Amino acid sequence: MNTQGTVTTLRSVQPSETRRRIILFPLPFQGHINPMLQLANILHTHGCFHITIIHAEFNSPNCSNYPHFTFKSIKDRFSEIADQFVTNNDVTYYLKYLNRSCVDPFKECLIELLAEPNKGHVSCLITDATFYFTQAVSDDLNLPRMVLRTSSLGCTLAYGALPYYSKTSYFHLTKDDSDYEGLVPEYPLLKFKDIGKITTNPQGMGEFVNNMLNTMKASSGIIWNTFKELEEPELQTITRDFEIPSFTLGPFHKYFPASSSSLIQQDRTILSWLDTKPPKSTIYISFGSSTHITESEFQILANGLANIGLPFLWVIRPGMVHGSEWIESLPEKFLENTGDKGRIVKWAPQHEVLAHPATGCFWTHSGWNSTLESICEGVPMICSPYFADQPINARYVSHVWKIGVYLENGFEWVEIEMAIKRIMMDTEGEEMHERIRCLKEKLNISLDEGGSSHQSLMKLVDYISLF
Ligand code: UDX
Repeated sequence: MNTQGTVTTLRSVQPSETRRRIILFPLPFQGHINPMLQLANILHTHGCFHITIIHAEFNSPNCSNYPHFTFKSIKDRFSEIADQFVTNNDVTYYLKYLNRSCVDPFKECLIELLAEPNKGHVSCLITDATFYFTQAVSDDLNLPRMVLRTSSLGCTLAYGALPYYSKTSYFHLTKDDSDYEGLVPEYPLLKFKDIGKITTNPQGMGEFVNNMLNTMKASSGIIWNTFKELEEPELQTITRDFEIPSFTLGPFHKYFPASSSSLIQQDRTILSWLDTKPPKSTIYISFGSSTHITESEFQILANGLANIGLPFLWVIRPGMVHGSEWIESLPEKFLENTGDKGRIVKWAPQHEVLAHPATGCFWTHSGWNSTLESICEGVPMICSPYFADQPINARYVSHVWKIGVYLENGFEWVEIEMAIKRIMMDTEGEEMHERIRCLKEKLNISLDEGGSSHQSLMKLVDYISLF
């Protein structure tokens, strides 16, 4: 590794070398676009490949940040349903829609790219694992397909174990059911109350998971944004069950000093504001790119933060609070009362905020990118998961790695305040800091020459070069 803690180049391009091409296809959401573009950069820089990105019109990436890539846009028709986001939280509905609406435009685009003269041999296609329709397309065109799975190994195993069709009642338990706090026999790390959060539509989720896992198994290999030392038992199980190569070369964002794939403009002024705060004093709150919160949750959070007495940096995306444009439903005099103690921004430079010495705790929705980024910077977490993989990540954070507190009962300020105190003020928090510091150290070693992620990247480059 170099002095910035990023990985040094594996080999440089020789002028005489014919570069091979790879075509990548991200799912059009921030938490999926970031790792796919990071992977593209890694393969371009460390593997000397030409990169072409096929992308949906919806959430189109900012191509000018990547002059070294070729971009091709396809019509996905997602904008026809995008406004349902705020009210319909059945994630599988959107994923299935995209898996239908993209088939023809994607195939046409791929055929055109493969027919381009003098552009070099296309080695393979790398698609987001959730784009399961692409396996049939690549089979038809005789093009090897690899997948990028943007969630954890643990999430993929848990997804595969849950009985979506036979035990749908598992997903609909309420606080009044005696099993609500019980462990799920098929994946005993999870409680029944967790899997109720994963999906509101077990049948739809089951269909989606089957399609995704079957086409992952039919692919030529899986690329994971994780590192071996974090999920060793899970990696062993995946390697045994999937029978295709798995490459764990994460965390991807550590290969480069800064990320430039944000869909919303980052407010960088808050970095100098953080400079004025004491070490480990500030709570950073962000619930990722697609969660929405109710007005009552927003009020609980705001009142609590105003009273807790610690500095805070809070990300609220426009439209994130149900029924509000932005922060107009803040309690009266909130900004006046909190003064310089708090900042609210629409979007933060998250990697830099987490790396800042003033950041003492990350209150997160437990998206996989956010979880990994927090581990990279040694910041313990408070977990408020909303859907899909998030409750699974939260369990791993609180019960496996023991580097955070899971707010299992939602937005109850007494519980939130206790969690903040446990992390920021108690010896338990010091122990969490120590455990996450050890993980951070293992992570840095994995990226060093000879480390597990570094080796996995070299194997991946060699593997793709053989196609
Ligand atoms: C969702 C899922 O929850 C996640 O697990 C899955 O792998 C992808 O889709 P999302 O809600 O976008 O993801 O959360 P997360 O995975 O944490 O990704 C958010 C990304 O946005 C992170 O890379 C984070 O650094 C970035 N971000 C977030 C910012 O740059 N600024 C912000 O203010 C907030």
